[in-house]
Amino acid sequence: MKSPKIAILYNTTDGHTLTICERIIYLLNQQDLFPELFEINHFDRMLGEYDLVLIGASIRYGHHHNNVIDFIKDHKEELKQVKTAFFSVNLVARKPEKNTVKTNPYVIKFFKQVTWKPELGAVFAGVLDYPRYGFFDRMMIKLIMKITGGPTTGDGPIEYTNWEHVEAFAQSIAKAVHASTTDHVEMV
Ligand SMILES: Cc1cc2nc3c(=O)[nH]c(=O)nc-3n(C[C@H](O)[C@H](O)[C@H](O)COP(=O)(O)O)c2cc1C
Repeated sequence: MKSPKIAILYNTTDGHTLTICERIIYLLNQQDLFPELFEINHFDRMLGEYDLVLIGASIRYGHHHNNVIDFIKDHKEELKQVKTAFFSVNLVARKPEKNTVKTNPYVIKFFKQVTWKPELGAVFAGVLDYPRYGFFDRMMIKLIMKITGGPTTGDGPIEYTNWEHVEAFAQSIAKAVHASTTDHVEMV
């Protein structure tokens, strides 16, 4: 039997969204699924070639990057023809009450903005890494952390990602891609 085709399209600024994509690929490989990975700006295939398309993107100053928003808007019709999944990476998601597509404010706003909703969705907490940030970003993130009750100092990366949550999402993708109809697909 032909192996289902999966495309993973991502956008990242500091690399963590890519790390999550790589973990998902590793987990899917264990299920005999071999996704193709593309930085979203470099995707040069037809979405219709795939059985499932996963898009992953991080938040910067309250928004997913414009290239993700534009890609989804420009490919709305093609995205309707395939099974789709999306995950967002942000620091607000370190709070358990804000780590699902139904409770994360950025994702709620994003789905409204792009008027698109994938069959599968997830929100993963990202990385806080003060030494990596320039002066302006460091000050801004400190302020955001102060307001939201997070750490305002740190001498190395603090990773909040729940890898079990990532694994559960990868399992849902494997299940969805193997299911014959989208009726079997569940939101994470
Ligand atoms: C300049 C900057 C702005 C950020 N703004 C937000 C924000 O508004 N809300 C939030 O929850 N996380 C915010 N983050 C946290 C990132 O979403 C988090 O670090 C994530 O892991 C980045 O993923 P990436 O490495 O794939 O870009 C910000 C991070 C940086 C560096």
